[in-house]
Amino acid sequence: MQTHRAIIKGVGHYLPERVVPNSEFEKTLDTSDAWIRTRTGIERRHFAAEGQLTSDLAIRAARAALRDAVLSVDEIDAVIVATSTPDQTFPSTATKVQAALDMTHGFAFDLQAVCAGFVFALSNANAMIVSGQARRVMVIGAETFSRIMDWQDRSTCVLFGDGAGAVILEASEGTGGPNDQGILATDLHSDGRFNSLLYVDGGVSSTQTTGVLKMEGPEIFKHAVQKLAQTAETALAKAGLTDRDVDWIVPHQANLRIIKATAQKMHVPMERVVVTVQNHGNTSAASIPIALSVGAARGQIKPGDLLVAEAIGGGLTWGSVVLRW
Ligand code: ACO
Repeated sequence: MQTHRAIIKGVGHYLPERVVPNSEFEKTLDTSDAWIRTRTGIERRHFAAEGQLTSDLAIRAARAALRDAVLSVDEIDAVIVATSTPDQTFPSTATKVQAALDMTHGFAFDLQAVCAGFVFALSNANAMIVSGQARRVMVIGAETFSRIMDWQDRSTCVLFGDGAGAVILEASEGTGGPNDQGILATDLHSDGRFNSLLYVDGGVSSTQTTGVLKMEGPEIFKHAVQKLAQTAETALAKAGLTDRDVDWIVPHQANLRIIKATAQKMHVPMERVVVTVQNHGNTSAASIPIALSVGAARGQIKPGDLLVAEAIGGGLTWGSVVLRW
């Protein structure tokens, strides 16, 4: 049966110039490079320069994806930016990206699902393409988590970094079967009972301040390992596939131990997992598109490969996308 599919037409990413190695935290906190590496797999992260905004990172990633897709902005119908660290309360960061790209047609909006934001955005973009609402959608994950860190809290501030990644989805025709190119299935969840495990203690209608990130790390860890494998398996089943069909897991890059435990639950060897967390830490909604971009540039992800991307974030929110590259 002929079906509309959303295929990945281009991918790109941007990491700010300033690189901060773990050793830098040893100067101000009771921590060590060895602790951070062994507990998280993180070796360094990038921080945006003073005055460099989430939209600045997003625009760099967007341009890279347009170049990769060999498309001009005139050919894009919509821009979605997944972010929890927007430039301003409003307007959306997506409209700022739209303006910077000289795009005066179509529509742009932000989507907020914390670290699961890119998976939620990809799922929404897929639905818009499959329903015929848009033909090409740019989906960006962009974050400046360095702006919401408590620099005295060693259990959180060593974990996060800044960055952006972007993909361009394009409408295509498929058979409706699992061998089609493009997005084959998505699976999204949230459960607001877990708000207090991971949150920012400020906001527009509550404190009128930005606030800083608070996290129950070990609790999140337990939820992550259980929920990520489950959502990935569910999405694979929706696509008529199993974990044996997976060429690459492209996980949210939060912690190498979570990534390894999830892969193990799915019986996928680490040789088939794209890992970039060592180079940028947890970049929240930006981490999956960065990993897609790096994985493709490294020559790991090749046309025809079956990918499952999975993420969990504050909310809790979690979900996965199964796609053929
Ligand atoms: N350096 C040295 N010691 C530290 C540090 C640090 N940077 N941070 C914590 N510790 C200490 C703790 O104080 C604790 O000491 P204690 O035993 O004396 O109390 C000890 O190390 C162990 O702490 P745990 O929190 O139990 O360590 P754990 O092995 O669980 O690792 C971590 C902590 C890395 C936070 C882990 O729980 C984790 O990765 N959780 C998931 C976090 C995550 O992925 N969050 C992102 C979700 S997505 C989003 O939406 C943002």
